[in-house]
Amino acid sequence: MSTDSPKTYYVKNYGCQMNVYDGERMAEMFAAKGMTPADEKANADLVVLNTCHIREKAAEKVYSEIGRLRRKDGTKPVIAVAGCVAQAEGGEISRRAPEVDIVVGPQAYHNLPDMVAAVGRGERVVDLDLPGLDKFAQLPARRKQNASAFLTVQEGCDKFCTYCVVPYTRGAEISRGWNELVDEAKALVDAGAKEITLLGQNVNAWSDGEQDLGSLIRALDKIHGLRRLRYMTSHPNDMTEGLIQAHGDVEKLMPFLHLPVQSGSDRILKAMNRSHSRDSYIRILDRVRAVRPDIAFSGDFIVGFPGETDADFEDTLSLVREVGHAQAYSFKYSPRPGTPAADMEDQIPVEVMDERLQRLQAQLVVDQTAFNTATVGKTTEVLLERPGKLAGQLIGKSPWLQSVHVLAPGLSIGDIVAVEITDSGPLSLKGEYLMRAAA
Ligand code: 5AD
Ligand code: SF4
Repeated sequence: MSTDSPKTYYVKNYGCQMNVYDGERMAEMFAAKGMTPADEKANADLVVLNTCHIREKAAEKVYSEIGRLRRKDGTKPVIAVAGCVAQAEGGEISRRAPEVDIVVGPQAYHNLPDMVAAVGRGERVVDLDLPGLDKFAQLPARRKQNASAFLTVQEGCDKFCTYCVVPYTRGAEISRGWNELVDEAKALVDAGAKEITLLGQNVNAWSDGEQDLGSLIRALDKIHGLRRLRYMTSHPNDMTEGLIQAHGDVEKLMPFLHLPVQSGSDRILKAMNRSHSRDSYIRILDRVRAVRPDIAFSGDFIVGFPGETDADFEDTLSLVREVGHAQAYSFKYSPRPGTPAADMEDQIPVEVMDERLQRLQAQLVVDQTAFNTATVGKTTEVLLERPGKLAGQLIGKSPWLQSVHVLAPGLSIGDIVAVEITDSGPLSLKGEYLMRAAA
């Protein structure tokens, strides 16, 4: 097939924030080539599906999406499958879905414009190289940003949790360099960002020589105009003393820590190869709380890992009650091809997983609701990020990453304002605008 070169693009992201960051960089690349964004997939000349392989459901969604891209008149856009499904399944994708023109892994997407040109010459292209961090040097400058921006500082994972595909799809842990990151953070702030969330599959494994993530956070703290810093996702074993201390003395570092634990049972943590115990996890939270008493915790949980007994699951519930998470993500275990856990005996029946997930989520909702309720009547700073449904309403985030709906005529996205919380639910808060916070 030979096509005119595409003029419009649409990037659809699945999965984690790392993909959101990559998707933004792809869009910037297409824009730099003179292409314009399409308002919806159906109208785009080029559609990139930036995929996630973490659980089976996420991976399967891609194939149904590809099927829907064929237009009524029988034509179709140029279709690129990017991200972790591309890396994991490679050429298999175009065998299963022949309408796919490009398969590109998460480390090779800087080559997309060339790949699109090759499709124009009638070729089909697969690029699954994992060349380290080459792509960042080849991407165009950052352009207009949302109030809250993402910055990938680290990619890959060396931990090899036995259930997880990430070490295979994103490769080994690798950190971007100090100067490059400080420069990109400044560029994001110049382009309008008030908050930066540092991203990595193992963001707190970031290092540059002697420097750890705590030192990078201290350097970014000095950027004028940057008001808030966050980071995710972290591994308990990489919570260095320097990073914990940063929670105590960097005011811009928001009092919120997403630290996955996965299970409350030491036996299961061992089978997962998590290399931390229930107690060592809780001790880390205690150390962070000691330097930042108002810190809120979030976590990830997997129920139904192979061999998980009722007693193991009860241990997870008791850990949840002990920590009292402000937010959490919980998943049914999904066997992933090529991971050690997929071949373990004693896979848990889906009905048991369903029942455990329901009980776990019920507990998490109780804790999250209690956390939100406790903020009612208090005054907090909110970074306004997007319009709400009502006229004059804006939605922003509290320091604890709660969504806050504020009726605030005259205010703009990007403002940080003092808000009195008047009402709460499990997922969001309502507040009344009091005043603009000091810059
Ligand atoms: N099955 C279910 N959940 C998984 N996660 C990672 N791999 C799997 C899997 N095979 C979850 C973990 C991780 C989050 C990003 O996704 O909780 O922290
Ligand atoms: Fe996957 Fe474990 Fe690495 Fe997280 S730390 S990306 S769960 S292997």
